[in-house]
Amino acid sequence: MSEREAFYITTPIYYVNDSPHIGHAYTTIACDALARFKRLDGFDVRFLTGTDEHGQKVEKSARAAGLEPQEFCDRVSRNFRDLFKRMNITNDGFIRTTDEHHMRAVQALWQRLMERGQIYPGNYAGWYSVRDEAFFGESELTEGQGGEKCAPTGAPVEWVEEPSYFFRLSEWGDKLLALYEDHPEFLGPESRRNEVISFVKSGLRDLSVTRTSFKWGIPVPGDDAHIMYVWLDALSNYITYLGAPDRQGADWARFWPVAMHMIGKDILRFHAVYWPAFLLAAGIAPPKRIFAHGWWTNEGEKISKSLGNVIDPYELIDTYGLDQMRYFLLREVPFGKDGDFSRRAMVHRINGDLANDFGNLAQRCLKMIAKNCDGKIPRPGPLTDADKALLATVDGLHGLMATALDRQAFDSALKALWQAIGDANTYFAHQEPWVLRKSDPDRMATVLYTTAEAIRQFAVLAQPFVPEAAARLLDQLAIAPDRHAFATLGEAGRLVPGMTLGVIEGVFPRHIEKDEE
Ligand code: MSP
Repeated sequence: MSEREAFYITTPIYYVNDSPHIGHAYTTIACDALARFKRLDGFDVRFLTGTDEHGQKVEKSARAAGLEPQEFCDRVSRNFRDLFKRMNITNDGFIRTTDEHHMRAVQALWQRLMERGQIYPGNYAGWYSVRDEAFFGESELTEGQGGEKCAPTGAPVEWVEEPSYFFRLSEWGDKLLALYEDHPEFLGPESRRNEVISFVKSGLRDLSVTRTSFKWGIPVPGDDAHIMYVWLDALSNYITYLGAPDRQGADWARFWPVAMHMIGKDILRFHAVYWPAFLLAAGIAPPKRIFAHGWWTNEGEKISKSLGNVIDPYELIDTYGLDQMRYFLLREVPFGKDGDFSRRAMVHRINGDLANDFGNLAQRCLKMIAKNCDGKIPRPGPLTDADKALLATVDGLHGLMATALDRQAFDSALKALWQAIGDANTYFAHQEPWVLRKSDPDRMATVLYTTAEAIRQFAVLAQPFVPEAAARLLDQLAIAPDRHAFATLGEAGRLVPGMTLGVIEGVFPRHIEKDEE
């Protein structure tokens, strides 16, 4: 047997200053769908998420909550783990930057950078935004409503002057430009790539990588008046989880540098500039790909705590269903673009795409089989051109979807799937098996078989996106778990006539607004 290809996918690790919201859910669901797709496609997958627990922002939030930072982190980190469980997320690891092994590994990375002459002591004087956990040059600042200085994100900045170690970022500009040039796949989508290239071309300054004015961070080895800059600490999670740089071993050899980091557009600079520079400076290969998705607004408005319009994923799951939320987030907006969250649009997708197009087709076809074929998959007769055309479309789906997902184009992958579901609906309506029941039962059997076979493949391919509903459909079709992988798509796993179906029931309920009930 040929060795399975490795695939390593990561979410950003989430700050524990906040309760989990739609933004966290979005990145995590996208990674989960991709991890599931790759597993079903035969890859050896590692999927990592976790929490980013150090830094001034978290220290301040802990203080505001009247807790010691560690206790505060334990609580909030647990909220993330609970939510991901509720969201059916299949992460293999959950890293916390307060984990012992992570802290030791980051110190080992520090030492390696020191040995290579990449870090030197100095003094920092400049602007810092706690909300962004980022330093800004004077020229990058904007003016707030009251005339105060703000970061480009709108966050307030404060003047910081303290002893600090610096990372020689300025030495890495050419190497970074060569990386973007030689590996166009390193950064997606394309528009972000251009943004990063022009930032690097404008010249990089050395980066302050330690702080002395507060304590909540990883101590600098040999100089514990300093703690490490939270982004150096946080970004390293992607490799410390695999045992690098101190322990290394089999996971490291297998899953680095095949990594794909999924992030939001707001943290692009850290991932596409600082992170590969840290790695190159430490003599470690950069990850294979970074993809930055866009941001959601809520009914046209920017989402913010002060506006009180934060979207709670638990509420969405309770109101609309988990599969429904997952489907909506991945289908509604091209991944990489900003999008607007609207409840009307959500209900439209649930009742249109899920309940009508997919759900009804499955239920009508399988119910007819249950009633008219003794509950068993019927034996098809000779296939007509229409039958063959539908099967050819369905057999070609996997290739289309896999190609789209290699570009993280979730919406295109789902569009392709739903286009084929549309073809199956048209086929079913034209063939009129309910008329054939009396006039030509053999032909009815062929039509029901062909439609059920299409539904089987739709269910197999829908698993990464709507895992609960797809699993129920596969049960109804009596497909054993060892036949859920993509290797069974097409001819390889055709439905076997005579197999007894499970109990047929709807898997995609319509959403009825409270006042319609
Ligand atoms: N801790 C850093 C990441 C360190 S990774 C080495 C961080 N954490 S975060 O909790 O603030 O944000 C995590 C993710 O949530 C980001 O990818 C961000 O883009 C995403 N979102 C936050 N609000 C969002 C929306 N309104 N819409 C979509 N995603 C957004 O940054």
